[in-house]
Amino acid sequence: MRTTTPHISATTPDEIRDAYRTVLGKFCTGVVAVTALDDTGNPVGLTVGSFSSVSLDPALVAFFVGQGSTTFPKVAAHGRFCANILSADQHDLGRAFARSGADKFRGIDWTPTHAGSPRLTGAHAWIDCDIDLVQPVGDHDLVVGRVVELGATDARDPLLFYTSAFHQLSPA
Ligand SMILES: Cc1cc2nc3c(=O)[nH]c(=O)nc-3n(C[C@H](O)[C@H](O)[C@H](O)COP(=O)(O)O)c2cc1C
Repeated sequence: MRTTTPHISATTPDEIRDAYRTVLGKFCTGVVAVTALDDTGNPVGLTVGSFSSVSLDPALVAFFVGQGSTTFPKVAAHGRFCANILSADQHDLGRAFARSGADKFRGIDWTPTHAGSPRLTGAHAWIDCDIDLVQPVGDHDLVVGRVVELGATDARDPLLFYTSAFHQLSPA
């Protein structure tokens, strides 16, 4: 049997804390811009890689947001969000929406979903949700959304995030 020697192996709490980001960075994710409107009607958003499907019946999705996020309290106050699955050519947008405090929507085209949340032009797909649950888990909040509208385009490839960098698909 062929064995491989691990480059990283952590067992103590200190080692696990040190290795956590590097090892979890081996898990490739899509990239989602969670968008909403603030209480003055301005668009707000943040980048998440922790987006996931949860349940088909009822239709639920989820993501995890750090408790230090300055944008998520505005999303929570809005009570709904649009999960925009970014296209491969939207890496600048993915980077910009991960920058705290910036005017993230400068130069960004969007149209409102039926519920009013920003649907980003050029997104690979979008899932519009009412917030069903916000539950603290460790240093993040689990956010569960009830799907009210969704759609997709097959015209573009999705944006991927792997080992701290953006990538796009190529056939295996
Ligand atoms: C590819 C990528 C994935 C990210 N995934 C998450 C995530 O799942 N949850 C989270 O809280 N932050 C995530 N971040 C970091 C947030 O985007 C960033 O901390 C946040 O937007 C800060 O801005 P805010 O203070 O306006 O909320 C991610 C960043 C990038 C670049």
